[in-house]
Amino acid sequence: MKKHIAVMAGDGIGPEIVGQALRVLDAAARKFNHEFSTEHVLIGGIAIDETGSPLPEATVEACRKADAVLLGAVGGPKWDTIAPEIRPEKGLLGIRKALGLFANLRPARLFPELSGACLLRKDIVDKGLDVMVVRELTGGIYFGKPAGVEVRGGKRTGFNTMIYDEDEIRRIAHIAFKAAMKRRKKVCSVDKANVLDVSRLWREVVIEVSKEYPEVSLSHMYVDNAAMQLVRDPSQFDVIVTSNLFGDILSDEAAVITGSIGMLASASLGSEYAGLYEPIHGSAPDIAGQNKANPLATILSVSMMLLHEFDLEKEALCIENAVRKTLQDGFRTGDIMEEGKTLCNTIEITDKVIERL
Ligand code: NAI
Ligand code: MG
Repeated sequence: MKKHIAVMAGDGIGPEIVGQALRVLDAAARKFNHEFSTEHVLIGGIAIDETGSPLPEATVEACRKADAVLLGAVGGPKWDTIAPEIRPEKGLLGIRKALGLFANLRPARLFPELSGACLLRKDIVDKGLDVMVVRELTGGIYFGKPAGVEVRGGKRTGFNTMIYDEDEIRRIAHIAFKAAMKRRKKVCSVDKANVLDVSRLWREVVIEVSKEYPEVSLSHMYVDNAAMQLVRDPSQFDVIVTSNLFGDILSDEAAVITGSIGMLASASLGSEYAGLYEPIHGSAPDIAGQNKANPLATILSVSMMLLHEFDLEKEALCIENAVRKTLQDGFRTGDIMEEGKTLCNTIEITDKVIERL
């Protein structure tokens, strides 16, 4: 297979972790006889420094033409004081919008070797923690109109609108069912249908879509209960599909209970252009440029890219297994270091992954 990947390394540890993830991609390409070409483009703080804009037009063009997009992270103290319209984060929001990315896939998975870092009780963790939150990203209450603050009846009044049409629900539901087909074939749709009208439509449409995926079992849960169940017994979940607001909260909750943000990958998908793959952590300016950062989240983002963008299941699994084996063999970066393990820097731990590939 021949594919072209737009790479936005960004700021802070971005270039270090992306550089290492690309070495793993290269190794996988050689092993499985694929050809992945890459094109580096600017985003975030470094783009501001070099062009004055956090998202140069050339970057948008390159990403729109690419078969997939890989991102490191953006931002850092250097740009904290500049005008809000050209901050590094604007680059991120801008590229998500330019690529029409309406679905955010966030797997929260705990490698058994790292269960010491997990915030949950051991008996709960031992049952397994491998949940994928599929969050709708471009609709719902964050974007619904009318929205604002105005004076009504002499009182300052704030309001937002939670709104979804059936097409928006249908397309995110398809993404969730497709993701479940590549996993344990379970979808839990999270809503607040006991209170919200928009949730009643959400449920109806998700049920309609589920008919096209007879192998996948569908359940429904209210969001307050889902927040509780995620910490009480996460092993009951495979894929969770939910709206923008609920997904924002649940995906952070699911991520933090694993205890290792240096390990978590993500994908954002649209329908018109390629998907964007990135670690969930930020640019970690406190350790940037020191060859200390954990590249595994970015390496796992590459694995997600192979699976979700190119349908290369075997290759994706091979990278995942190499990461797992690296942990099993006791190699750790500083952020996940434990007594008795071998401390590696960014490059060394990548070497270990590549050896095991
Ligand atoms: P952060 O995720 O960059 O760092 C939080 C803590 O985790 C730091 O102590 C950092 O050293 C550590 N850490 C993060 N990733 C790591 C890795 N791969 N290996 C080892 N340690 C790691 O979040 P923070 O500190 O809130 O934000 C720093 C900058 O990153 C800010 O400018 C923020 O705006 C930006 N940011 C960017 C994101 C993105 O590009 N998607 C997401 C979140 C924050
Ligand atoms: Mg959030």
